[in-house]
Amino acid sequence: MTERLSSKDVLRADQFSPDEIDRILGAARRYEARLDAGDVLEEMRGKVLATLFYEPSTRTRLSFEAAMLRLGGRVISVAEAVSSSAAKGESLRDTIKMVEGYADVIVLRHPRIGAAEEAARATDAPIVNAGDGAGQHPTQSLLDLYTLVKEQGKVDGLTIALVGDLKNGRTVHSLADLLVHYDVELVLVSPDALRMPGEIVERLRAKGISVRETESLADAIPVCDVLYMTRIQRERFDDPAEYERLKDAYVLTRVMLVAAKESITIMHPLPRVNEIATDVDDHPGAAYFRQAANGVPVRMALLAMVTR
Ligand code: NCD
Repeated sequence: MTERLSSKDVLRADQFSPDEIDRILGAARRYEARLDAGDVLEEMRGKVLATLFYEPSTRTRLSFEAAMLRLGGRVISVAEAVSSSAAKGESLRDTIKMVEGYADVIVLRHPRIGAAEEAARATDAPIVNAGDGAGQHPTQSLLDLYTLVKEQGKVDGLTIALVGDLKNGRTVHSLADLLVHYDVELVLVSPDALRMPGEIVERLRAKGISVRETESLADAIPVCDVLYMTRIQRERFDDPAEYERLKDAYVLTRVMLVAAKESITIMHPLPRVNEIATDVDDHPGAAYFRQAANGVPVRMALLAMVTR
């Protein structure tokens, strides 16, 4: 059995020590090798995962469910809040206290920042945060880190550009919180209105990481080893006109990559809208579909390390 995490839950990327990150990525590597070898795993036999998604999801929910099934466990799922008691006014706390009677581990996605922490306080069951509004998405950033290592062979020494909606994008918040443990240079590319929250930038700088903020994607392309593109998060905008103004801020096309290093890795948590043109997809460095596939072994590792 894989060694357990120090916390009962997976809530935020900054909860992990460097040693814990290494253990998670190591376990994911072993699971990936066993999947590749065609092994049938039984470690979670008899265990039940409940997935509760109060916001849309395709990859995150499917990859958590695939991970539990690959471990020999079973899955119960409430896909949409509209079909659940939340629509009748039930509090998140009550829902979680009820689900703990049905499952050994709970994966939660919710539109409210802090919802996963609130859920974790309400139950002894492990809660895995699959995205809390514009807050955190720690399991995504672990699979992002796993992908970085697979694609580039290392993390230390890389120049990484995070591009797009850095204000509202929970994946970049969590990824920044993991990258503080590495010797990287960061280029933060966003419109002024969508800059990375100041406290995250301060945390990075306090750890000695060089952080440059710019509005220009063209400036970032030649210098970076990794280009991490993100979607402008339409659902976080109060003003639709503001979304319309910013939605096409960055569109990466194949021709722009002529200026890039040959070894560049292009990532995106997906779904993309138009921020990566489809002519980029067959670039050898376009890693976003491989990145999505990496969600399965990484989430297998996490489930194995937290399930009661
Ligand atoms: C991301 C999310 O939900 O935060 N998607 C994902 O989990 N792969 C990114 C996004 O929705 O833009």
